[in-house]
Amino acid sequence: MGLGKTLLVVFSLLHALVLATSVGVEHAADDVSTYIIHVAHVHAAPPTHASQCMDQLAIAHYTSFLQGILPSHLSEPTPRLVYAYSHAATGFAAKLAKHQATHIVHHPSILAVFPDKRNELQTTLSPSFLGLSPSNGIVQASNGGGTGAVIAVVDTGVYPKNRRSFTADPSLPPPPSTFRGRCISTPSFNATAYCNNKLVGAKYFCRGYEAALGHPIDETQESKSPLDTEGHGTHTASTAAGSAVPGANLFGYANGTAQGMAVRAHIAIYKVCWAKGCYDSDILAGMDEAIADRVNVISLSLGGRSEQLYNEPTSVGAFNAIRRGIFVSAAAGNDGPDMSTANNLAPWMVTVGASSINRQFPANVILGNGKTYVGTSLYSGRNTTASLIPLVYSGDAGSRLCEPGKLSRNIVIGKIVLCEIGYAPAQEAAVQQAGGVGAIVPSRNIYGQFFLSSPDLIPASTVTFADANAIYSYTQSTANPVARIEFRGTMISQSPYAPRVAAFSSRGPNRFVAEILKPDIIAPGVDILAAWTGENSPSSLSIDTRRVEFNIISGTPMACPHVSGIAAMLKVARPDWSPTAIKSAMMTTAYEVDNGGNAIMSSVNGRAAGPFELGSGHVDPNNALDPGLVYNATADDYIAFLCGLGYTPNQIAIFTRDGTTTYCSRRPPVEDLNYPAFSMVFARSGGQVTQRRTVTNVGANTNAVYDVTITAPPGTRLTVAPMRLTFNVQRKTLDYAITLSAGSSNSPYNAWGDIVWSDGQHMVRSPVVATWK
Ligand SMILES: *[C@@H]1O[C@H](CO)[C@@H](O)[C@H](O)[C@H]1NC(C)=O
Ligand SMILES: *[C@@H]1O[C@H](CO)[C@@H](O)[C@H](O)[C@H]1NC(C)=O
Ligand SMILES: *[C@@H]1O[C@H](CO)[C@@H](O)[C@H](O)[C@H]1NC(C)=O
Ligand SMILES: *[C@@H]1O[C@H](CO)[C@@H](O)[C@H](O)[C@H]1NC(C)=O
Repeated sequence: MGLGKTLLVVFSLLHALVLATSVGVEHAADDVSTYIIHVAHVHAAPPTHASQCMDQLAIAHYTSFLQGILPSHLSEPTPRLVYAYSHAATGFAAKLAKHQATHIVHHPSILAVFPDKRNELQTTLSPSFLGLSPSNGIVQASNGGGTGAVIAVVDTGVYPKNRRSFTADPSLPPPPSTFRGRCISTPSFNATAYCNNKLVGAKYFCRGYEAALGHPIDETQESKSPLDTEGHGTHTASTAAGSAVPGANLFGYANGTAQGMAVRAHIAIYKVCWAKGCYDSDILAGMDEAIADRVNVISLSLGGRSEQLYNEPTSVGAFNAIRRGIFVSAAAGNDGPDMSTANNLAPWMVTVGASSINRQFPANVILGNGKTYVGTSLYSGRNTTASLIPLVYSGDAGSRLCEPGKLSRNIVIGKIVLCEIGYAPAQEAAVQQAGGVGAIVPSRNIYGQFFLSSPDLIPASTVTFADANAIYSYTQSTANPVARIEFRGTMISQSPYAPRVAAFSSRGPNRFVAEILKPDIIAPGVDILAAWTGENSPSSLSIDTRRVEFNIISGTPMACPHVSGIAAMLKVARPDWSPTAIKSAMMTTAYEVDNGGNAIMSSVNGRAAGPFELGSGHVDPNNALDPGLVYNATADDYIAFLCGLGYTPNQIAIFTRDGTTTYCSRRPPVEDLNYPAFSMVFARSGGQVTQRRTVTNVGANTNAVYDVTITAPPGTRLTVAPMRLTFNVQRKTLDYAITLSAGSSNSPYNAWGDIVWSDGQHMVRSPVVATWK
């Protein structure tokens, strides 16, 4: 068999090289598109090599394989190989006609065939905000180490040119000898000039994107290189591990030292997102490469809405990453505050929600009637006027949404315009074009008390939806409405209390597995100051000609790299902990009380947030170093969990990649996965639910004795057995069971409590949430 395979590879290598370079050049027939094909390792995967040629050899292998399994009447059009995968998954991506894809599904060596999907880059802007990034900001500067750890940032690339966040401190050592990554040079990305001991890797993956486009990337529009022309990847990479930059700010806002979480960790960039999205096939290729490069942490500020874990490349790739000891954190998504909106739900990765910090950029709107409304702004200039100037509602000036070219110049000139909901900088450009001098922009109704600030182009303030309504009423109540906007700069204060869960942060429950609580944790994701590309404006509008070294933006993608950086520090401090143990340490030490001593609130309504909003709570890096106990899990435990989900052997083999043999000798209940949080799912009528856990003592005291404190969700009965755990040298791990009894309920989500194990030194806390189907 070995000989036959070798011959096949040699014969088709040249063919494959031609195919690989011609991908995307010609126009695809209508029903031809890219598919991701997972193969059964023992049958169809090529032998693994560590050579540079691996990719081409594997592509040749899979090309032959495809040609071999397609009957002659289906051999046209000739399948085009896009990628071969061997670390994050086993298989390949190829351009196939639909009838070819349908045929190969039935081949015994093929586990699954999934159409390639486009994912949205998760920015602060939900689609209703025209798909552009708004802004907000705060410096996240925490002293960290992370020396010797490599964080892979799978995103839009990096812009290192004149970006101090990516300069290497002279005392920074080279990356660890185990690291295999490197920087790719292209005409727009000079690796010699840009890469150093901080930025140690930079690669790009665009074959899936080009296949979907049907033509090569237009290099006048975007750079076919690791260079970030968007800004997102530069921001997330510098948040995870950027070097310290004193005096960093955006137009003077948030002035201070900007630095990544793990300020001494190395950064490796895997660019998978392009101007028109991030494709599954490219994401999987980026993760494949990151695993091969032996990074320590993978940071995923992207994701889509998959139907199942097995057709989500981030889930499959992350499973294989954690098996190699690589920690994976991912953004929960920006589709809050609606329930069941969280993404990246696999239990082996950390799903990060976003919270506020104690810094605001207030911009007061003062009306002629004496009322003041506090909004927010990142406008670079002065106060509109010291005195009041005329105010007009956009609907009375020809365009409720303040669309370009639609506002009446005669009405708007010299005035402040109150617009309806839209993307503030774009609306401001329209107001300015029509001769207006200021703008007031409402936040979304569903965001309640929460608003996002923007790098405003003209004097402007974003106010809550309710305040915008009050301002509207004023414009309609008087013949000559007047207003002024007063910028108050950067305010650090206890009011409102922080952290609060951001309105946009995606919520649980977990739509795949209600028994696994998601999101896992919250981290700063509102008003984050970090590095920005020189190829895009801070507002991302092409009419905006400003260029900035730092930008202030918000989103769970900004929260995710905080956790990635903290994980890198934990990896260095606790080298023998598994990614699951690191995740557990972060979750059980997270706090759920704000800086006013109250339960962390939702920024939507100021009410206490529950576990579906904040997970286990807000990450606490210092506490995570010494959690006392951890909820560990092995790859076999996760495989048993997949069995418990009822996945077929083929679906499970997509993750495990070593054949379709006898997994699922056990199918434990999914809720018995050793998770550091409890989601108890009841029938409508209530009942009793028991979950089992195993804790490992990682504290200094091998003879620690832990007692449990129980806070039952209101209206339920919660018991833990045993209530005391006595560890010793022989007994480093102990089991317990938790049982929740509840009656019927019509309000499905609002009952939560917690259990806390304590030895007098550590508090090992797990939220307990009850859900009724
Ligand atoms: C890349 O940068 C190096 C170091 O700054 C410089 O010597 C070299 O000329 C540059 N290469 C190109 C092609 O610009
Ligand atoms: C930022 O802070 C530094 C140090 O306090 C100061 O020197 C600098 O002028 C400030 N820059 C701005 C734009 O406020
Ligand atoms: C705007 O006016 C207020 C009140 O007079 C003042 O405190 C603030 O510093 C001014 N802001 C700017 C940017 O000039
Ligand atoms: C957790 O499990 C992994 C893999 O089974 C093991 O290597 C590790 O030592 C365990 N304990 C901790 C604290 O990570």
